[in-house]
Amino acid sequence: MARTGLATVSTPIPSWQRRGYSIAAMRALARAALPRPVFDFADGGAEGEHTLRRNEAAFDDVELLPHPLTGAATRDLSITLFGRRLNLPIIVGPTGLAGLFWPDGERCAARAAAAAGTAFCLSHGSVCRLEDVARGDGPRWMQVFIFRDRGFTRELTQRAAAAGYDALVLTIDNQMLGNRERDIRNGFAIPPRFRPGDLAGMALKLPWLWRMRRELSRITFGNYVREGETADIRTLAGRMASLLDPAMNWEDVEQVRRIWKGPMILKGVLDPAEATAAVARGIDGVVVSNHGGRQLDSAPASLDALPAIVAAVDGRIPVLLDGGVRRGVDVAKALALGAAACLVGRPQLWGLAVAGAAGVAHVLDIYRRELDRVMGLCGVARIADIGRDLLFARPPRNVH
Ligand code: FNR
Repeated sequence: MARTGLATVSTPIPSWQRRGYSIAAMRALARAALPRPVFDFADGGAEGEHTLRRNEAAFDDVELLPHPLTGAATRDLSITLFGRRLNLPIIVGPTGLAGLFWPDGERCAARAAAAAGTAFCLSHGSVCRLEDVARGDGPRWMQVFIFRDRGFTRELTQRAAAAGYDALVLTIDNQMLGNRERDIRNGFAIPPRFRPGDLAGMALKLPWLWRMRRELSRITFGNYVREGETADIRTLAGRMASLLDPAMNWEDVEQVRRIWKGPMILKGVLDPAEATAAVARGIDGVVVSNHGGRQLDSAPASLDALPAIVAAVDGRIPVLLDGGVRRGVDVAKALALGAAACLVGRPQLWGLAVAGAAGVAHVLDIYRRELDRVMGLCGVARIADIGRDLLFARPPRNVH
């Protein structure tokens, strides 16, 4: 693939790659390419979107103190996580309906993650069936909920084990559906229906409409389809919503722990006491996450919640983070505060919307190149060397 940036190139760089020079630029390209309700479905958060905004803004509150004279001639971005080597500390997180952004979206994103040498986590709400993404290079993780029908949680977990998934991610912050007002405003439905205003700038949206013309009529939640029953997404969406369960508790987590023999990760942890309780129950990792600001608005930004959880866990299990990670430098900041790796949600969907698997590969490459540059500028040769000494302690203002 052609390389972007200032490096010499032997093949012409596709124009979308040139224009998609950062994650924010990829978001802008995705916004232009997608009908408004589809873009907003991914981009939006719950209610006033306070948490959504804070997720990104929290990174601006942290500054890095470079140590240029430590001699980081070459940088090694690799980490070992749950016994697997990853080429970079950035994982493709679970996002439902990725197949709405590009045909076969989940498989495209999984392929791109594997090519970049990192892990891919499939959402319970994928368009494709979990069995169809399980095989391939690179670690694959499967995400599930505690469903009202506990038998269905067991079923998905057992299917993931049989299909060969490397790790199970149990998301705990989706026990009720978040109140996503952009979706209400836009009349977002699945399959999507469009009003004339949704297709403003129609010429730019035509490639997506053309690409998705067959997909839209048969889009479904692959993991919920039962043999001999309807695959109609409206029916399945109703079933999925009825399966969410605010009554879930630690006993349910323990039950899943008993079934799943491999690494099990709790996603959606913001409370240090819950992180400690997770360690006590044999959980292998936690993701500090507020679901990208899509669930409880006014939950703290993930980065703000991270230090207390790192302190509570005290090195016993890896602490991962997602929410608002938009640059390589954001990854460095999370790592300096004690995260083992970051997951990215929306950016992979923007990559898919722009160019399918190539778009996700490009997104991961942007993070990789940015993180490598940050490490070079900070004088850090290895991920393990990104520590608290890189954090700049801002002096208090108004001191005379
Ligand atoms: C999500 N997220 C999510 N999480 C999860 O555990 N299961 C899921 O099915 C989904 N689905 C989903 C759909 C869409 C469209 C988005 C944007 C997000 C949350 C996701 O895994 C992650 O926590 C956030 O997206 C992280 O924040 P950023 O990277 O999007 O800022």
